[in-house]
Amino acid sequence: MIRPRRSCLAVPGSNPRFLEKAQQLPADQVFLDLEDACAPLAKEGARHAIVKALNEGDWGGKTRVVRVNDWSTEWTYRDVITVVEGAGANLDCLMLPKVQDAEQVRALDLLLTQIERTTGLPVGGIGIEAQIEDARGLVNVDAIAASSPRLETLVFGPADFMASINMKSLVVGEQPPGYPADAYHYILMRILMAARAHGLQAIDGPYLQIRDVEAFREVAGRAAALGYDGKWVLHPGQIEAANEVFSPTQDDYDHAELILDAYAYHTSAAGGAKGSAMLGDEMIDEASRKMARVIATKGRAAGL
Ligand code: GLV
Ligand code: MG
Repeated sequence: MIRPRRSCLAVPGSNPRFLEKAQQLPADQVFLDLEDACAPLAKEGARHAIVKALNEGDWGGKTRVVRVNDWSTEWTYRDVITVVEGAGANLDCLMLPKVQDAEQVRALDLLLTQIERTTGLPVGGIGIEAQIEDARGLVNVDAIAASSPRLETLVFGPADFMASINMKSLVVGEQPPGYPADAYHYILMRILMAARAHGLQAIDGPYLQIRDVEAFREVAGRAAALGYDGKWVLHPGQIEAANEVFSPTQDDYDHAELILDAYAYHTSAAGGAKGSAMLGDEMIDEASRKMARVIATKGRAAGL
């Protein structure tokens, strides 16, 4: 099942006010965070606050995700057990941060399977999102993408990634001064190729200058242009921008529907069963149909 993820809202699990407020916001996805937005001493309380918010809140059809801590910590197993035993029926996916190899995803898959069996949840029902946040995760990204049928997305984590490779910049998502091209191009493309090769969604991570919505649009636009499905949002002000940037424009959507109609007609017996056809001055063929279908599918999901 492909869930909409144009805007993926980060919600600190330790903040009851945000857990409440996030429910009304128009993000496609929320992820309730037990990792970096949650101080070590607040993690145990946050696990229970998240269970309560998932079970008692009205999330209005949003994709509901919890980000657990990574396997190098002492917290992961309790995060998973508390959240999934407590609220597994009201949870769509777990997000695993700092994934470095396929085994880490498989370990989470096995633990989920046991909890699902024990609690009577459908086995395999809870999906996994894997964050790629360092060099090791990136060099292993193909194996990670193939690691589990539960996997739904690969998520680029620019802040941890920049730190892990010593990139010379302190502003997450911005270009490091001194490099004359796009310093993120290779990383974004590498993740996107692995995701697409395995039928997964590709999601871009956060932009931390939350008051600068125009800059957010620009950074989000880079990922959207390559084919990414969505981006994290850290503030309500970034949500509309993300939903717009990761949806086709009305013109592109209308044009895509026209291509699909024209192609369906010209390849049918009534239209002469041709392999290619003209739509105005544009030649369209089977490959054009596939491109149009991508845009039309996104546009229909966005309600255009
Ligand atoms: C997100 O987790 C990031 O590190 O950018
Ligand atoms: Mg991170």
